[in-house]
Amino acid sequence: VSDEPLGRGRGHSARILIVEGADDLRAVMSRSLERQGYQCVEVAHADAARERLAAERFTLALLDVKLPGSSGMELARDITRDHHDTPVLMVTGLDHPRLADAAFQLGVYGYVVKPFSVNELLISVANALRRRSVELQNRRYRTQLEQTVEARTAELREALGNLERAAEWTIHRLARAAEFRDFETSAHIERMSRYCWMLATRLGLGDDRVRLIALASQMHDIGKIPIPDDILFKPGPLSPSEFELLKQHAEIGYRILTGSGVELLELAATIARSHHERWDGTGYPNGLAGEDIPLEGRIAAVGDVFDAMTSPRVYKPALPVEQALEQMQDERGGHFDPELLDVFLGSTGEVIGVLEDYPDAA
Ligand SMILES: [Fe+2]
Ligand SMILES: [Fe+2]
Repeated sequence: VSDEPLGRGRGHSARILIVEGADDLRAVMSRSLERQGYQCVEVAHADAARERLAAERFTLALLDVKLPGSSGMELARDITRDHHDTPVLMVTGLDHPRLADAAFQLGVYGYVVKPFSVNELLISVANALRRRSVELQNRRYRTQLEQTVEARTAELREALGNLERAAEWTIHRLARAAEFRDFETSAHIERMSRYCWMLATRLGLGDDRVRLIALASQMHDIGKIPIPDDILFKPGPLSPSEFELLKQHAEIGYRILTGSGVELLELAATIARSHHERWDGTGYPNGLAGEDIPLEGRIAAVGDVFDAMTSPRVYKPALPVEQALEQMQDERGGHFDPELLDVFLGSTGEVIGVLEDYPDAA
């Protein structure tokens, strides 16, 4: 349906519904408009108008305010509500501010007062059609814009999801690479990450933080990459100078991971540096004590030590869970944050579940 305004000559196909009770006036309106090239459908009352509106689309409806049966105002209300693409032009023999206001509230496009000249009618119709054309264009533009924004948002969301998965995967593999240098068949990284997840959750740190901690903790021993094999794989106890070298992995890990400003990596750097600190201040590299040790470092210490105890090493067999937990209990307030340790010891069922879910490869 074209909605070309008056002035573009004959032949355009705007379809106008004329709803007018007075036969002579209806005929005059229809004839004048058809002479301009509009197609007109004439009806004498509201019910007939509703029937036609249900059956076909109109570019414009011209309504007499005082129709027989249900009034023109009611019909106008129904059309503005149910036929958004069909603007309404009111025709009235009664010029009253209250009527004009009611028409305006309904959103009718114009208001022609009888008696009117043919030119007045034509100009009102042309203006209404022009306004409709602009509104339709705007609506199309808006819909297009919304669709574009929606599509772009979906693309962006997918790209971010991919990026997130790539980051998780890279972190995991990088952490495993460092760990492979140490204990070849170990699922240490997974278990340690799960313990951190469990502790962070029980501390009520919130889903986002919990997820970050579980990921970041996987990189706690990344600083072992440059530590010589003969220290990492030494079957017996380390000499004091060898131990000094091994201890450097905390600071080295921090330096590998820090500097990007990315929350996850900065957290990983913090954990790498602080996972060997002890609550009583006797740990390394900085001898921090109590709450001076970052919370995430304290969390990692609990998970890391428990898993080291319950895993076999080249220099020692695995401890049974009960025994490991007892030994850790002895370090309450020594090696470990007492409150954190209590949470861990109170979650034995879940701890054993993690051990069962992530066994060392044979
Ligand atoms: Fe470590
Ligand atoms: Fe570790």
